[in-house]
Amino acid sequence: MKIKVTTSNDEIRGLVSNAKEKGQIVGLVPTMGALHQGHLSLVQEANKKADFTVASIFVNPTQFDDNSDLENYPRSLDADIHMLEEVNCNAVYVPSSDEVYKDSKPFEFDFNGLNKPMEGEYRAGHFQGVVQVVKRLFEIINPDLACFGLKDFQQYAIIKEMVNQLNIPIDVIGCETIREENGLALSSRNQLLAQEDLQSALLISKALRLIQQNYRKHSPAELKALAVEPLQKEINLEYLEIADSDRLQPIESWSEAKHARAFIAAKVGEVRLIDNMEIF
Ligand code: PAF
Repeated sequence: MKIKVTTSNDEIRGLVSNAKEKGQIVGLVPTMGALHQGHLSLVQEANKKADFTVASIFVNPTQFDDNSDLENYPRSLDADIHMLEEVNCNAVYVPSSDEVYKDSKPFEFDFNGLNKPMEGEYRAGHFQGVVQVVKRLFEIINPDLACFGLKDFQQYAIIKEMVNQLNIPIDVIGCETIREENGLALSSRNQLLAQEDLQSALLISKALRLIQQNYRKHSPAELKALAVEPLQKEINLEYLEIADSDRLQPIESWSEAKHARAFIAAKVGEVRLIDNMEIF
């Protein structure tokens, strides 16, 4: 079936209401385009539970703290639509900024501390922009479920928190990170990496793997020291953190957390990459 492409709030609302009137479950995959296999896996996950899957493509200006990052963000709309059709996505919503934010006001949100560490420290206002746009997308599209990649684990945790706090009846599903065979987490930003930086980019997932595989032998502080060393020589490390998966607070001993994850953000050449892995 041909995918429906729309730029209009009214039209996407109409498509979703039609689906719901037929008793269909509606899934949403919010994206900023420049799609890769990771995004397509989100559509495939949504399709497992939903009868009608909508993807959104919108490069949200309010979540960029740096104008050149926004300008350089990769865009490939025609290819994106084609890829979505190939994985049986039913509709794609590609709004302008005016359309998304039409008739809406920014809302106050208590992040419960989740926006403070890691990305929050390095990208001022980023999560403020993310929650505003995701709430708008939820209001406009009104899905039953929405899929987010766990590569952006902090974003996923914040969206879960928002849905709980505001009692939004949407099932937020976190989907595993898709990796190249060499371990590199798929990201739209990977296409901006210079050829000579590809090997350095691999150090990120290697460091995370080292932590994941050795946590029984070392304390978090020891592991951080071991993992940081090879990174600092090759890439511009912003943070390497070992944190509680629920509150995202750094931990000093394993007993502090029921579940823990390791997180890295680094600039490889000019490209900022993030990744994380579950430890336990
Ligand atoms: O993860 C992303 O691509 C974006 O942050 C999202 C969730 C689409 C909001 O703009």
